[in-house]
Amino acid sequence: MEIPDTLIERLRKARCVAVLTGAGVSAESGVPTFRNAQTGLWARYDPGELASPAAFRANPALVWQWYAYRRSLVAAAEPNPGHIALAELERRIADFTLITQNVDGLHHRAGSQNVVELHGNLNRYRCFADDEPVELTTVPQDAPPPCPRCGGLVRPDVVWFGELLPPRAWRVAVAAARRCELFLCVGTSGVVHPAADLPLIARSAGAYTVEINIAPGALNGLLDLHLYAPSGHMLPALAAAAFGNAP
Ligand code: APR
Repeated sequence: MEIPDTLIERLRKARCVAVLTGAGVSAESGVPTFRNAQTGLWARYDPGELASPAAFRANPALVWQWYAYRRSLVAAAEPNPGHIALAELERRIADFTLITQNVDGLHHRAGSQNVVELHGNLNRYRCFADDEPVELTTVPQDAPPPCPRCGGLVRPDVVWFGELLPPRAWRVAVAAARRCELFLCVGTSGVVHPAADLPLIARSAGAYTVEINIAPGALNGLLDLHLYAPSGHMLPALAAAAFGNAP
């Protein structure tokens, strides 16, 4: 799909850019998305049974094993050219905020420095009782270890259904959406709020908003421009068109 010259010019001249990514940006790294009918994580598992405080209380070992499985998928994955292009854009643009719904840590591994993890990170842990961080030197595979402070359960440091987003992360994300002149929404189905509100907050604040996805979804028609192509192709092409391939 052709990239409109107007978008290339906007990116080249932009002083302030915000990007929201979803699972689609990691799909080309081999990490399953959630809602893809065939391979999606939710196609085979019920989110309510795995990604909620009630599920963890009811069956901590099952939830812990599911995250151990996802952690193994991510450990075997490498950042793809889409992640790498976003790290390059961060180096080229003065005020660049990368907001992600992903918990796989691939943006950091690609070299992005300023990453706002709205839904946490599955390689971090916290105490289920008091939400304080817990450092694990070894990570058991079959059941959560006891919290070294209180002996309670340790949980993954991710946001579960029914839980609030980390307040600071949300504040930073909304501020970036409100001040940016260009907002890119990449690889998200746009069905989970409040993350999916960010492109609309940006647009109502005057930003030019762009979706990059492989297929129309919940955001279709709501943003200024919709580009349908894999992000692992589109993002490097956009970065190269705007800034060249010079290191
Ligand atoms: N390039 C661009 N987009 C892609 C690609 C790709 N290569 N592959 C898939 N997509 C798109 C799909 O079309 C879909 O719109 O990525 C999106 C993935 O959607 P979901 O699986 O719903 O993932 P996401 O939007 O990140 O889910 C949001 O929901 O389950 C919760 O906490 C979880 O953070 C997650 C949130």
